[in-house]
Amino acid sequence: MNREEARKKIEQLTEIINYHNKLYYTDDNPEIEDYEYDKLFRELENLEIEFPELKKDESPTNKVGGTILEKFEKFEHSIAMYSLSNVMNEEEFWDFDNRMKKELNEDNIKYTVENKFDGLALELIYEEGKLTAAGTRGDGQIGENVTNNVKMMSNVPKKIKEKNKLIIRGEALITKKDFEALNKEREELEEIPFANARNAAAGGLRQLDSSESKKRRLKFFAYQIANYRDFNLTNEYKAMEFLSDLGFTVEGVHGNIDSKKVLDIYYDIQENRSKIDYDIDGLVIKVDDVKYQEKLGFLSRAPRFAAAFKFKPEEKETILKNIEVQVGRTGALTPVAKLEPVQVGGVTVSNVTLHNPNEIKSKDIRIGDTVVVIRSGDVIPKITRVVLEKRPPDSKIFEFPNKCPVCKGDTAVTDGDVIVRCINEECPSKITKYIEYFVSKPAMNMDGIGKEWIAAFTKSGLVKTPADLYKITKEKLFEFERMGEKLAGNMLKSIEDSKNTTLKRFIYALGMRQVGETTADLLAKYFTSIENFRKADIEDLQNIEGIGEVSAKSIYDFLNSEKASKLIDDLLEAGVNPIFEKLAAEESPITGKNVVITGSIEGFTRTSAKEAAERLGASVQSSVSKNTDILIVGEKSGSKLKKAQDLGIEIILADEFIKLANK
Ligand code: IVH
Repeated sequence: MNREEARKKIEQLTEIINYHNKLYYTDDNPEIEDYEYDKLFRELENLEIEFPELKKDESPTNKVGGTILEKFEKFEHSIAMYSLSNVMNEEEFWDFDNRMKKELNEDNIKYTVENKFDGLALELIYEEGKLTAAGTRGDGQIGENVTNNVKMMSNVPKKIKEKNKLIIRGEALITKKDFEALNKEREELEEIPFANARNAAAGGLRQLDSSESKKRRLKFFAYQIANYRDFNLTNEYKAMEFLSDLGFTVEGVHGNIDSKKVLDIYYDIQENRSKIDYDIDGLVIKVDDVKYQEKLGFLSRAPRFAAAFKFKPEEKETILKNIEVQVGRTGALTPVAKLEPVQVGGVTVSNVTLHNPNEIKSKDIRIGDTVVVIRSGDVIPKITRVVLEKRPPDSKIFEFPNKCPVCKGDTAVTDGDVIVRCINEECPSKITKYIEYFVSKPAMNMDGIGKEWIAAFTKSGLVKTPADLYKITKEKLFEFERMGEKLAGNMLKSIEDSKNTTLKRFIYALGMRQVGETTADLLAKYFTSIENFRKADIEDLQNIEGIGEVSAKSIYDFLNSEKASKLIDDLLEAGVNPIFEKLAAEESPITGKNVVITGSIEGFTRTSAKEAAERLGASVQSSVSKNTDILIVGEKSGSKLKKAQDLGIEIILADEFIKLANK
């Protein structure tokens, strides 16, 4: 790869990784599996090693974790909280071990090995034996103050016998048993179950109402004493014993072992991890001797003396009994594999999406095959391959339907020959799925209407479009069997309540293909009213940081379609009133404003200035346009200043911005 190609690739990877960081750390809603993320991260790291001059200060490889949520008070870490470098396989483990030996000039290094808990990092502070404060990791320097929620955790001691100030770190997580119970409860309440324990834990810890947090049954697993120097602790293993003696939950520690033993333990736990009652995604290897740890020191985001030795995602074989084709809200025909149920990564898997016909073809998946399923502690299970040696003679090639399996209507191949869609606007499956989406929690939030009722309403023809929901009357509802006074009342109330909604929800509820919650939020902040949004031109859309060209084009096409016009008109006419909610409106002069930052600002990198502005509730754009409210001007600002002056845009100077950001 030449320098120019590397520069482009680094830029691309940075953007992708930042996007996934936000989903994972800030939104608690990851889209990709951990090992896929690790691969991207590793690719970026390698390129930066090969082309060190291309590495930027604000590279994700220099950063720890995510940004913080505004709703919490800040929690400053007196000692920085680091992340860990990854070791992905045996070869990399030996590289790590050799590096330690070389740098310490010592042949037989002893390690302490711990479980790598797959939860959310926390710091707890004890003073005079009492738990006084607790915070999340955030960016490693500043996290969120979650003391009240941590006090609700059943296994966190509120008092300890040690009277000196103690700063403890560990991971908050939900055990598999508790997670199952929690999801069962949610299903009974007709709430959407959590995708995985980590998200439920991270979301639980970041609730403003600590009784909500308590319901998630979080547990704390301690793994480090940040101020170990204040105690007479000469090695890692002893520190763990000390914590355990004080009443903290300390699990899965193997102290004072050599590198060979580390590998034995790694393979053993990797094989048997499903028997452990919480998710772990690897082991953490730490040089045991504190003197050595200090000698080795830290890199920008991780210590040199420790590493995360990641597990391979767990794999299981099972039989693929059938393939069914479902029709989604956008008409996409999605093949779903029906499996002989199998336990993998701590859950029972019986349905796995195969995404599109190409995946079936390229993996040569046939009905009756034995397939390998993975689920890497996280999110969505996947079929990785077919075990060809076990293919039975009567295995059947799956014929992908060329008509919609629900309405028998015509289909078309879209999205670069990948996705087959039903093109019948009246397909009952499309309508039902769209109405389900429209009433769902992140959209119009009509929690009084369950899925089975939506199916009944669309089947009977009572509801064909979202606007029809607003025409439902009590009399109409009573035409359905099993409808009671209370149920009907709840439904009508939640329909009525949904009329007062936010612009973000409304935009999301329109169901545009490229627009999830994050993008809907960006659009709402940028346009601030439905009228503005409807008039969006393509440059406006492309100007929004976080929205790429493809999304911009697809949003633009949607807005200019007859279908969208009618949908929006009908909803507004039905009385839906989307309002742009300004974030903490009075908080700062840039809150709720579209800002552009130009020139360099002392003490900030480009990224950290952007993040600071976002923390203050601003939406940051990359270039000045008529929609820009404020230009923040640093040193050596260029053409943007002139353009802003021409457009009469308000200017804020760097000094004032620094004051706002440091408030
Ligand atoms: S030690 C200076 N030990 O993994 C060393 N971290 O991917 C700092 N984690 O940020 C971390 N289990 O949140 C350590 N036994 C363990 C851990 C652990 C989970 C988390 C931790 C860290 C992240 C890095």
